[in-house]
Amino acid sequence: MKIVLVGFMGSGKSSVGRELSRRLGYQIVDTDLTIEEREDMPIALIFKEKGEDYFRAVEQAAIEEVSRKDNVVIATGGGVVKNKKNMENLGRRGIVIWLKTEPEIILKRIMSEEGRRPLLNVEEPLKEINRLLVEREHLYMQADVTIDTDFVTSGEAAQEIIEKLILNMQEVTVNLKERSYKIIIGRKVLHKCSLRLKEFKPSRVAIVSNTTIFPLYKDIILNSMNECGITPEVFLIPDGEEHKDFLWASNLYGELLKARFDRDALLVAFGGGVVGDITGFVASTYMRGIKYIQVPTTLLAQVDSSVGGKTGVNHPLGKNMIGTFYQPSLVIIDVELLKTLSQRQLRAGIAEIIKYGVIADREFFNFLEINIGNIISIKDELVWAIKRSCEIKADIVSADEREAGLRAVLNFGHTIGHALETVTGYTKFLHGEAIAMGMCSAAKLAVRLGLLQGKDAGLINALVEMYGLPVKIPPDINASDIINAMEVDKKIRAGQLRFILPESIGRVRIEENIDRGLIAEVLKS
Ligand SMILES: NC(=O)c1ccc[n+]([C@@H]2O[C@H](COP(=O)([O-])OP(=O)(O)OC[C@H]3O[C@@H](n4cnc5c(N)ncnc54)[C@H](O)[C@@H]3O)[C@@H](O)[C@H]2O)c1
Repeated sequence: MKIVLVGFMGSGKSSVGRELSRRLGYQIVDTDLTIEEREDMPIALIFKEKGEDYFRAVEQAAIEEVSRKDNVVIATGGGVVKNKKNMENLGRRGIVIWLKTEPEIILKRIMSEEGRRPLLNVEEPLKEINRLLVEREHLYMQADVTIDTDFVTSGEAAQEIIEKLILNMQEVTVNLKERSYKIIIGRKVLHKCSLRLKEFKPSRVAIVSNTTIFPLYKDIILNSMNECGITPEVFLIPDGEEHKDFLWASNLYGELLKARFDRDALLVAFGGGVVGDITGFVASTYMRGIKYIQVPTTLLAQVDSSVGGKTGVNHPLGKNMIGTFYQPSLVIIDVELLKTLSQRQLRAGIAEIIKYGVIADREFFNFLEINIGNIISIKDELVWAIKRSCEIKADIVSADEREAGLRAVLNFGHTIGHALETVTGYTKFLHGEAIAMGMCSAAKLAVRLGLLQGKDAGLINALVEMYGLPVKIPPDINASDIINAMEVDKKIRAGQLRFILPESIGRVRIEENIDRGLIAEVLKS
């Protein structure tokens, strides 16, 4: 394996690299040192006498060479990420780790070694660090793993990297116009998550959870926070969709005000979609918006509701009618938490995972077919399936944050699914079960419209069934009631009756104005 450390100057790449190589028994290559040796002069002098372009060319050659090695830790120069070719070379068969450090700490660390930092030989180095960081941050963010080096020693940072690699910790970036955020996915990440909270420098932290989930993981989450010197407030709401409402949002505002939470406070949503939605909504409105982190505990929340920034509460006149688009600052997905989730809830979450295969990735769909046993028993294949689902959702959300167009494809199976939930009063089916039937019906509709081959509709049906999800709408549910519910939903949302229909597995299109008679036939079939 090749471990590549990237980050700004002073982030500790060389010292963390040395620690890592010692612990793993890997060779260490510090590209800046290699270049200094080859050119027989310090980097500062190369910059001064031969210029930055010359240095970057030598650096690219050194990177090309070291990229061919295996079992090596590569500590790179701070500007290495600016060159796409470098990152392609380093990323191939390697894991890229970003050592993230605050500007003030960078400045403190490099004060004593000014001679080696040619780019900072300026009057106001802190300003220059900030400028360069803004220029490079989006490039560093492409790394596979991020490690905060502000408050840790090189040994601790190296240990964290090893643990992340062992724990099979994955990261996905949601790139948005104004800012980006990370989704961290792995096993037992909850034990370590608090270190990540520190980077937000919160004045106060509150965990928002419910009365079922919090008692199960109270010790782990509180110990993890206490170890990092965080003493959170804990606000619990009762379990159940019926509590995702204004009353509980208002109770939360009250608790935050009583505890004197200010604008620098941070909320941690620890629960399923209900907790996530209401916490996000409160975070988006309390004092005109404070930061929040999602720690989703159901599979549905891990692959869907925690990612994408849709928040909300229900109103007596409609579900999810009041809400905001408000992105979390971080999403931490601990797959171990799913071990206490009921099988029914787990399978319902898988419906959303199947959805991603159908709308965007045939290979992923095939992966879900082949690995059912390991996915259902929460093995590493599920970690990967969650990562791939988050990647697909992140890509779509990045392209269309506010659902102006493309994001609608995430609603595959939802037009009929939502209507099924409505006509059964949200009591008969879990959301994922309704979506499962909605996807199978949408596939049938696509076949009837000549958009999809019957064979592919059969594969979708079979996969949904293999995961123990319902494929057929029970005969006691009237097709005309379902269509009426869709029409009402359309009116409430002031939109069109819109279907997302597969053209093949991995590609969907949006269709409006479909003949109601045909829809009824499909629903009955
Ligand atoms: N914001 C979005 O983009 C979005 C997307 C889809 C759904 N949603 C919303 O999500 C909600 C549904 O979310 P959900 O399916 O997670 O339901 P949920 O939050 O009600 O959780 C389901 C049940 O599982 C329990 N639970 C949660 N984690 C557990 C764990 N690890 N172990 C044991 N029990 C656990 C909960 O207490 C609850 O009883 C709905 O309100 C829906 O509107 C939002």
